[in-house]
Amino acid sequence: MNKSRQLLLAALAALTVGCAPSDDAIERRVDELLSRMTLQEKIGQMHQVDGSRDFERVCEAVRRGEIGSVMNVTREQIAELQRIAVEESRLGIPLIIGRDVIHGYKTVFPIPLGQAATFDPEVVREGARVAAYEASSDGIRWTFAPMMDVSRDPRWGRIAESFGEDTFLSAVMAAAAVEGFQGDDLTAPASLAACAKHYAGYGASESGRDYNSTFIPERHLRNVYLPPFEAACKAGIQTFMTSFNDNDGVPSSGSRFLLTEVLRDEWGFDGFVVSDYGAIREMIAHRFCSDLEDAAEKAVNAGLDMDMESYAYAQYLEQLVSEGKVDRRQIDRLVGNILRVKLRLGLFEHPVPDMERNVFFEQASLDAAYRAAVESAVLLKNDGVLPLVGARTVAVIGPMADRAYDQMGCWAPDGDRDHCVTPYGAFALRSDVRTLYSPAMAHPREKSRTGFADALAKVRAADAVVLFVGEEASLTGEAHSLAEIRLQGVQEELLEAVAAAGKPLVTVIMAGRPLTIGRVMELSDAVIYAFHPGTMGGRALSDLIMGDAVPSGKLPVTFPKVTGQIPIYYSQHSTGRPVRGDEMLLDDIPTEAEFFPTGFTSYWLDAGIEPLLPFGYGLSYTEFEYSAPRLSAESMAADGAITVSVDVSNRGSRDATETVQLYVQDKVASITLPVKELKDFRRVDIPAGETRTVSFELPASKLAFWNIDDRFTVEAGEFLVWAAGDSRSGEPAAFAVK
Ligand code: GLC
Repeated sequence: MNKSRQLLLAALAALTVGCAPSDDAIERRVDELLSRMTLQEKIGQMHQVDGSRDFERVCEAVRRGEIGSVMNVTREQIAELQRIAVEESRLGIPLIIGRDVIHGYKTVFPIPLGQAATFDPEVVREGARVAAYEASSDGIRWTFAPMMDVSRDPRWGRIAESFGEDTFLSAVMAAAAVEGFQGDDLTAPASLAACAKHYAGYGASESGRDYNSTFIPERHLRNVYLPPFEAACKAGIQTFMTSFNDNDGVPSSGSRFLLTEVLRDEWGFDGFVVSDYGAIREMIAHRFCSDLEDAAEKAVNAGLDMDMESYAYAQYLEQLVSEGKVDRRQIDRLVGNILRVKLRLGLFEHPVPDMERNVFFEQASLDAAYRAAVESAVLLKNDGVLPLVGARTVAVIGPMADRAYDQMGCWAPDGDRDHCVTPYGAFALRSDVRTLYSPAMAHPREKSRTGFADALAKVRAADAVVLFVGEEASLTGEAHSLAEIRLQGVQEELLEAVAAAGKPLVTVIMAGRPLTIGRVMELSDAVIYAFHPGTMGGRALSDLIMGDAVPSGKLPVTFPKVTGQIPIYYSQHSTGRPVRGDEMLLDDIPTEAEFFPTGFTSYWLDAGIEPLLPFGYGLSYTEFEYSAPRLSAESMAADGAITVSVDVSNRGSRDATETVQLYVQDKVASITLPVKELKDFRRVDIPAGETRTVSFELPASKLAFWNIDDRFTVEAGEFLVWAAGDSRSGEPAAFAVK
């Protein structure tokens, strides 16, 4: 290690107080480093490269201090890169190593959409903690997660990575993920810096086509899409990532409004922002920038700290500074943000973790993944056939019954199919049933029925059938939008053929998004939706089906009847022509009917107004009965609170867990608002035959919104509140804010 670096380390270490450096000590170290850095070295910190290509060239650039972060490299490569950075570059500033550790590293948890279906922040927190524990042992200290884009369009493949359609649920889960990834001590070797992505509004990509433009006016952006990011900021997230979309004409990577006015000036965020992959360069394709130099100038002046893989900063920042188009002080601000996070992570003290630690697939991690998979499954229908107690021979049929790779879902590059328990694998291990298995199709997109005969022979020989259909992982996630969200291949034909055999039929759908499953709901005696459930998904599903576990999941996203209803979500606005309920549907309309036969209200002639299944919906192996909500007061001041209580009774014979959801409607406001919005929820374990009173504290502050004056405020007025088992049930109680 060279002398100047040793002196620098000694000086920097002396400034550090305790194991978790205090903010003042960090700031002094940031200033100390900046004072020593050349402009080229500062620009180097702002440059992130994908190390999976041309590794030797990356090593050379690190040695010259031209790179601040590397992504997509192995543990051995990380050790080599950090050695070069710390021992061979002039100032020895360590790299920050990033990777997409989205829903697990080696032990894969359900996709985030599935984790949202648990309505259990503890599951999300624990999943992130396990991911951090495993990934950090490979030298990764920064994950590009959690994704917190409010997503209301299942045509968009990235809905799989989201926490679904609701702002409040997304905010709660985002904060839980931040706490899980970052832990309570960022300097701990097993902590990861988390990344709020994709900032912002990406989930509203027009027509669900990925990378498409969004047209979200500021007030709607602030009321619907930004709150999860603000919650992540308040939870102490250390990084943000800009989104690919242009919103209202401005690509996020060039948006001073997003990157400086909101993030820094309003929220006080002091970590750093990285662009999405090549997003700075893509501002040329957006036709927002004339060339890469222009893109570099717009991005850095908007306040974008780090360039992921555009090479815009590396190539043009020095020139832009010399031409006076970029102020050196702006460079210092942005580089200071990056150094601050590296110092907070303790990277100067331990740039590489204890590389001997092999912590993959520990039992505690697998148990956590199992619990997450059980809680993420949503029981959509049960005509009494579940749990399958009494069945001696079960036919496990279908192309998703034994597909380890697909059940891990999108963004699981480090998952290991050999550690996955598939549904068929789990059933085959059970001693309480004889399992007959047939995939019936080579894969879910198979168009041939040649495998049906074998499958139907097994169906006929069984007491009950469990049919596993769904969506391949590689058809979900980024760049995987669908114009029709249906079951691919001949899966529906397989369903028809199996149903025609007349045996008790349980259908399990494993997918990365809602699919149009009306026919599945019609022909199956029971239906379970498992959003790509991860490593332990098969064990979880077999336990749920056989009654060793009880379903408790709730839908984090609305299920449309048909693709044409999209976007459809529970928190829609009333419109001036809300449906009355007596509307004529297509087949009701007589031929040569008068010009307006249908009644002048807002609905689809061929699909009505209702979705197939509403947000928050999910059944269990019992019936829950709700009392009317009771309020502690009929009104409150704008700085006050009321308590909303409801009695929930388990009317069945099995202990079960219910997620009680609290929705509020602002009856009249200075702008039009949703018909109702989720403001709280709670999972409650209720033993068979017992009743629990669930009480929610509802402060008026939860009713605040960005109003007609663009002020975030609580408006006085009349409100309705529901406490129910989904977004469509229950009777409201009324209260006022004075
Ligand atoms: C991708 C994704 C982003 C991911 C990044 C790095 O294009 O948009 O979510 O974190 O690139 O892989």
